Amino acid sequence: METIVEVNDLKKSYKDKEAVKGVNFSVEKGEIFGFLGPNGAGKSTTIDMLSTINRPTSGDAIINGFQVVSDKNKVRGSIGLIFQETTLDEKLTANENLMLHCRFYNVPKEKREARIQEVLEIVDLSDNRKQIVETFSGGMKRRLEIARGLLHYPRVLFLDEPTVGLDPNTRNHIWDYILDLKKKQGITMFLTTHYMDEAEICDRIAVMDHGEVIALDSPEKLKTDVGGDIIEIQTADNDQAKAKIEADYGVEVKEKDNTLTFQVSNGSEFLVQFVRDFSIDILTVNLRRPTLNDVFLYLTGREIREDASTQNDETEGGTD
Ligand SMILES: Nc1ncnc2c1ncn2[C@@H]1O[C@H](COP(=O)(O)OP(=O)(O)OP(=O)(O)O)[C@@H](O)[C@H]1O
Ligand SMILES: [Mg+2]
Repeated sequence: METIVEVNDLKKSYKDKEAVKGVNFSVEKGEIFGFLGPNGAGKSTTIDMLSTINRPTSGDAIINGFQVVSDKNKVRGSIGLIFQETTLDEKLTANENLMLHCRFYNVPKEKREARIQEVLEIVDLSDNRKQIVETFSGGMKRRLEIARGLLHYPRVLFLDEPTVGLDPNTRNHIWDYILDLKKKQGITMFLTTHYMDEAEICDRIAVMDHGEVIALDSPEKLKTDVGGDIIEIQTADNDQAKAKIEADYGVEVKEKDNTLTFQVSNGSEFLVQFVRDFSIDILTVNLRRPTLNDVFLYLTGREIREDASTQNDETEGGTD
């Protein structure tokens, strides 16, 4: 394994706000590495420091062998960047947007034409090359931004909320392109999201909260660490059932929306005996594996989803 991103005690403070409180981690070449966390966790601030958009207050990071603080230009040449908010020039055509970027990144003149054609093919926009970006759908704009990020052969592609505000179908499409890029081009992807299902696709996830990385592992391992399976039941008398389960099985029972939730190590075995022997009437029963939302809840006591839905609404109104 070859490390391509190494982050050492990276911090960013604004006047009275410690946005990123000293984070440490590394990313391997070819990985899809995700940052998962609620609004204001410090995800964008970290990406902005890694991509040299924002200078760290202290600490450093090495991308593709170059330091973000002292080797800015070399870092910029090694990375592609897709911002949380769209940065296309909507009055220009797709081709003109890409040409501008080629000039900015010193892609040699004689190579521009072929390179633009190549990246447009990757994201299925070859037929829209001469079209004004203003007339693109949200998903097409995002794909064009991904194409732009690929123009100068980056080693690492940073994607800040690549699918926020897009409908589920378009989100799936964007993911197909991202996974394809990993497979065919071996590009390392570093992305942020607060969609649980998207985080699931990552090879490893750093869970971020209040400017800190509070857990880092594969989605599978993070969920296993929560400990076993999740049982959800509704009963004829939830108060009594809660007390009884806690006393009989020594587990913590949470109640929400009339449903009792608790964890056991082997759910299917447990349920057979539980349903047979429990003395209070059970109305509904559900057994499921932990999700990344359970991971966040387990780590922080809060749900990430509540934050996510608010964020989504805000962003939808604000990006276009
Ligand atoms: N320029 C700035 N000045 C002051 N505070 C800032 C600035 N930029 C970010 N912050 C604060 O730093 C914290 C982290 O913000 P950041 O944008 O990194 O969060 P995020 O995890 O990307 O959130 P989101 O999911 O909403 O995109 C927030 O509390 C934010 O208000
Ligand atoms: Mg952000």
